[in-house]
Amino acid sequence: MKRRLIFATNNKHKLEEVRAALSQSGAIEIVSLAEANLQGEIPETADTLQGNALQKAQWVWERIENSKLKIENSGASQQATDFDGVFADDTGLEVEALDGAPGVYSARYAGEHCSFDDNIDKLLAALDGETNRRACFRTVICLMERSDECGVMSDECAIHYFEGRVDGQILTERHTNGEGFGYDPVFMPDRFAVSFAEMPLEVKNTISHRGLAVQKLAEYLTHNS
Ligand code: IMP
Repeated sequence: MKRRLIFATNNKHKLEEVRAALSQSGAIEIVSLAEANLQGEIPETADTLQGNALQKAQWVWERIENSKLKIENSGASQQATDFDGVFADDTGLEVEALDGAPGVYSARYAGEHCSFDDNIDKLLAALDGETNRRACFRTVICLMERSDECGVMSDECAIHYFEGRVDGQILTERHTNGEGFGYDPVFMPDRFAVSFAEMPLEVKNTISHRGLAVQKLAEYLTHNS
């Protein structure tokens, strides 16, 4: 029987990326939040990537358990809430000369409703005149699975983390072909002479923080299904 996992994201691009990485294994079905009928803003208020990934996965897990109880009490079909697990990811750009900033605050580095461009402008200003441009992107994926010992209705779970990291440097100005998003125009990965925003997505996915974390998740799921 297929293992059904919910991916706790509203980002369609990430959903496609993860589905593609897991497509070799016919034993896993990835379900989006919309398909699981889950709406609302997922909280991410922890101060570490791991904490945020766990918080997002837990938020979904708790909602699934609650709707399961409601369905059980109403006697309706349980199909829609039958899941074997939930996973969520969180990513940050960590800059050596800035003591790891923006890190877990990468999305809102320049303020609560800032744009990618605002974030890049703030980063370039913070590194103005700085010779140490070393930085890395890190992604942490948190997977919550039903543990073997418990039955389908149990809310007990096993928690696993998968991390991906790519090292590189922050350029002094934007380099872009229009590829990518976020800090891509100013991040050049080691062993490459172009920024992430000048790379085809297929190439970026094979070396990127998120790509590597997803590969580790895929290996785990393939060997444990
Ligand atoms: P999230 O946790 O994946 O939403 O990532 C948080 C923030 O990190 C995003 O809003 C982007 O600013 C930045 N980010 C994440 N992944 C990438 C990437 O692959 N390239 C550039 N920036 C990224």
